[in-house]
Amino acid sequence: MNSASYKSWLQYDAIKDVKKQDKLAEWCQNIALYDQSLQVKSAKEELVRGLTSIVGIKPQISNSVNHAIVLSTRETLPKEAIHIEAQRLEDLNDEGFIIESDLQTKSVYLVGNSPTGVLYAVFRFLRDIQRDQEIHSFNVIDRPRNQIRMMNQWDNMDGSIERGYAGQSIFYKDNEFRKDLERVKDYARLLASVGINAISINNVNVFEVETHLITKRFLPDVAEVADVFRAYGIKTFLSINYASPIQIGNLATADPLDEQVKAWWKAKAQEIYDFIPDFGGFVVKADSEHRPGPFSYGRDHADGSNMLAEALEPFNGIVIWRCFVYNCLQDWRDRKTDRARAAYDHFKKLDGQFRENVVLQIKNGPMDFQVREPVSPLFGAMEQTNQVLEFQVTQEYTGQQKDLCYLVPLWKEVLDFNTFANGGNASVKSIIDGSLYDNKYSGIAAVSNIGDDENWTGHTLAQANLYGYGRLIWDPELSSEQIADEWIRLTFGEDRQVNDSVYPMLLHSWSIYENYTAPLGIGWMVNPNHHYGPNIDGYEYSVWGTYHFADWQGIGVDRTVKSGTGYAGQYFSPNAKMYESIESCPDELILFFHHVPYTHRLKSGETVIQHIYNTHFKGVEQVEELISTWEKVKGRIDGERYHNVRERLDMQLSNAKEWRDMVNTYFYRKSGITDEKKRTIY
Ligand code: GCU
Repeated sequence: MNSASYKSWLQYDAIKDVKKQDKLAEWCQNIALYDQSLQVKSAKEELVRGLTSIVGIKPQISNSVNHAIVLSTRETLPKEAIHIEAQRLEDLNDEGFIIESDLQTKSVYLVGNSPTGVLYAVFRFLRDIQRDQEIHSFNVIDRPRNQIRMMNQWDNMDGSIERGYAGQSIFYKDNEFRKDLERVKDYARLLASVGINAISINNVNVFEVETHLITKRFLPDVAEVADVFRAYGIKTFLSINYASPIQIGNLATADPLDEQVKAWWKAKAQEIYDFIPDFGGFVVKADSEHRPGPFSYGRDHADGSNMLAEALEPFNGIVIWRCFVYNCLQDWRDRKTDRARAAYDHFKKLDGQFRENVVLQIKNGPMDFQVREPVSPLFGAMEQTNQVLEFQVTQEYTGQQKDLCYLVPLWKEVLDFNTFANGGNASVKSIIDGSLYDNKYSGIAAVSNIGDDENWTGHTLAQANLYGYGRLIWDPELSSEQIADEWIRLTFGEDRQVNDSVYPMLLHSWSIYENYTAPLGIGWMVNPNHHYGPNIDGYEYSVWGTYHFADWQGIGVDRTVKSGTGYAGQYFSPNAKMYESIESCPDELILFFHHVPYTHRLKSGETVIQHIYNTHFKGVEQVEELISTWEKVKGRIDGERYHNVRERLDMQLSNAKEWRDMVNTYFYRKSGITDEKKRTIY
């Protein structure tokens, strides 16, 4: 587990420039420790590891601030640090920190508002000295913009991972916890290095064995995992089965208004907190895709979540309640029911009815992590409800870590989207960072993309998504470009040529993937169940509510208020108006909102059918370019990572060709319209 691919962005490569190296050695001889808490110990351990490797000398632990990296919280600052202005720290939140160089003593102060702040300071310090930052001129103030920064593992206890594309679970095997938690610790390091502070460790679909995670059988194991994460400032959560009172409590019901059920959950919460005093709380997928929930008892989701929240309240626990609730037994003949409407229809009306420690988790789009979807209209629509946004780092519909798809640009579009809630400027990021509405909890969660593959993510370049997710939610003002540049340099070192190759590959990859897959926001068209590869009618006559309605004349879903499902009306004005009209609806979402003829002319000047042909031919050519670009790094990085990516790119090319030919042929046969450029369509 010492390979470059395993270390991902925590390579800590030795500095090659001798002058820089000498200077670092002079300043980093010692570590002065002014706080003994758990997270500061982890910080120290990481600093020793990092400096030993980057600078080539092992720093000593010292009592003096001279020639030292000083680790301290605000409260424990030594008197020598009088120049550190308390005011600057006071302006930060709990997890904020400053890093400041002191020329006189040749020391650098890493001061956090909390022990976890110190840990974050160390990761930032190590990141910066590996790049352009001079050791004598640190003057950093930093803090996370979002409060909850969460990872959701979709791991099952048999070791499989739902929508996992990088091997088996690092947590479980054969329906037990893994004994060796070293890898979990390294995962905690990776997560903490980008500021993640919460994790749920089992699949949102809670099946038989996992229902028992909240029992004495497994709680000691959960506690051990929580110990590992705690040392890195990460709170542990569990996904729970709403029907637990029946399944493990011997009750006849799970009705949230039933007194026995309430009492059962209260006792259960007490039991969990006896094992894990700082347990984060529950993640709940209820009444969603056949999971049990309050609907079975004629109760709504406020009743359902409030009951759990009440049980967790005495311990400061929270309930993260997912809004992915829709009818998954739809009749494809019915063109009025619209899955996209579901979350808003179910939850908007409940605004104001949730307890203070209920947090709704809303997927970024109204459907399900497609390569292109509009932003969920639920953002901004609930002024009095805690909300976290849900992203999917694992590439379920975006290439499954076989195809390259750097997702940071997609996430940025979501965060920057102006919902126009509250009468004006109301970006999604201002809603989920808590600045727009004054709710107690807010933040972001995402489905993880890691497994026990040596390189964590299957595709080595998919590490950039894990890194990018953490960095972006720490600071949504960072650009996709900045994040890509950071990741490449930390991961592959300071080789210009490598950077010049990998950088455009990452930045273009989302649009390339979009080009050769489902066009113009229509989504789906994938093989059912596993969701990889093209199948244009794969979901067309199914129960899932995911249709494209292509016939011989046209394609798309009419979601207008005027003649369609009315979904466009769920947005605030002027977004509602923009999507409602074919003229103003952006090209990339035209088929999401409108059913149009193949001959409809897009703003780009192309017809829909010609756009489909053009982008699909182009997508394949672009994948060919990705391969030739990657060839330029050959011999400049280690063979393992080079080959891993090369193999994946080859898979991507055959996938892209399959998509191109199936999509083009399908629409040619449906429409009878030939390609203007007379390329091969079958
Ligand atoms: C998708 C995914 C499922 C998952 C679900 C969810 O539909 O395919 O595997 O369970 O999302 O978010 O709950």
